[in-house]
Amino acid sequence: MSASSTNSPPLRLAGRRIVLGVTGGIAAYKAAELARRLKEMGAEIQVVMTEGAQQFVAPRTFQALSGRSVRTTLWDEAAEAAMGHIELARWADAVVVAPASADFLARLVQGRADDLLTTLCLASAGPVFVAPAMNQKMWAHKATRENLAVLKKRGVRQLGPGSGDQACGEVGPGRMFEPLAIRDALVAHFSHGPLSNVNVVVTAGPTREPLDPVRVFTNRSSGKMGFAVAGALAGLGGTVTLIAGPTTQATPRGVHRVDVETAADMLKASRVAARTADIFVGAAAVADYRPKKTASAKIKKKAPVLSVLMERTPDILLAVRQRHPKLFLVGFAAETEKLEYHARQKLASKKLDLIAANLVGHGRAFDRDENTLRVYWTRGGRALGTASKTDLARRLATLIAGRYRKKS
Ligand code: CTP
Repeated sequence: MSASSTNSPPLRLAGRRIVLGVTGGIAAYKAAELARRLKEMGAEIQVVMTEGAQQFVAPRTFQALSGRSVRTTLWDEAAEAAMGHIELARWADAVVVAPASADFLARLVQGRADDLLTTLCLASAGPVFVAPAMNQKMWAHKATRENLAVLKKRGVRQLGPGSGDQACGEVGPGRMFEPLAIRDALVAHFSHGPLSNVNVVVTAGPTREPLDPVRVFTNRSSGKMGFAVAGALAGLGGTVTLIAGPTTQATPRGVHRVDVETAADMLKASRVAARTADIFVGAAAVADYRPKKTASAKIKKKAPVLSVLMERTPDILLAVRQRHPKLFLVGFAAETEKLEYHARQKLASKKLDLIAANLVGHGRAFDRDENTLRVYWTRGGRALGTASKTDLARRLATLIAGRYRKKS
């Protein structure tokens, strides 16, 4: 769980899918460093190299750094079968071409699609970033200047170049932007919003408490609400770690997911993640009890009645609050009656900053897409209305961001 380890940088690019295009230029070696830097912030990278790039650096280098086979051509049947180029263009949250050679920029202007990288740039719905790198005279040439003006008009985002000593021995503008500067530009792109630079942890889904190797106690939480909240908080620019119990939900874009099974696992993961968190949202339906003993072998059906002795699980929100008195802590209350009364009790007893409450049972909330939420804090509250869980999650995330800002 490097998200929260104190030595590694925060995973500000967690879950971001980036196509890193490398074109032919001596600066291609710097793209290797860029791949490493993006990866250490949690990005998923698919490197795509042009023919020219392979004259400078071997694909194997990028394969090792990105953890994925490098794509080099439109005509690789096996790679296309695994993920076709249009699929790859859809997969990418951004295409970053670094270095972008003068020739590549010219081909982009023409809208060519005669190699994989230009095709991806055309087919991608996400933003395309280019980090030009070339000799200073090539950079200053009218053709290059005009090409960049056209690309800019079309919405291609330009990163650099920097100025200084060049590999060809000349001095001037045309050096590829440093990998850290490119990485930071991408982080800024993905984390604009009221929660940029804010670390958020969300727990979601049920937990599963084993009775024996094949049987578990669990509950009907689908994880839908918690996952939607995690996605909405990431949409506001937050760096989100989602600690998920067993569910079939897809990981929201831009979210770093840690899978756990039991309440004890969830507590452990929460403790680690809370160390670097600014906001902690407990949306998980944590089992309150677990079998006191887990049988090591399958329990056979011999006795007519089976009693299982259950013990309390740790309260995750309480444990996190005890360790982090200043953390902005959000809880959920699922109640079958006296909603406000029970929610406010939980708000006080767990020392929460905010609690989101909803009625459950009789076909309400669990496994449904629609929900009704009310939110309470010490001296106030608000009804968020009845809506889809995705809409409610957005309203709740906005409220969390607002109240967090007010407090900090
Ligand atoms: N919660 C937790 N750890 C637990 C149980 C619950 O962190 N072991 C969190 C949930 O994620 C939720 C909040 O506490 O944000 C309220 O959970 P809920 O189950 O509604 O309330 P409980 O405190 O367990 O009380 P009760 O079951 O009696 O209603």
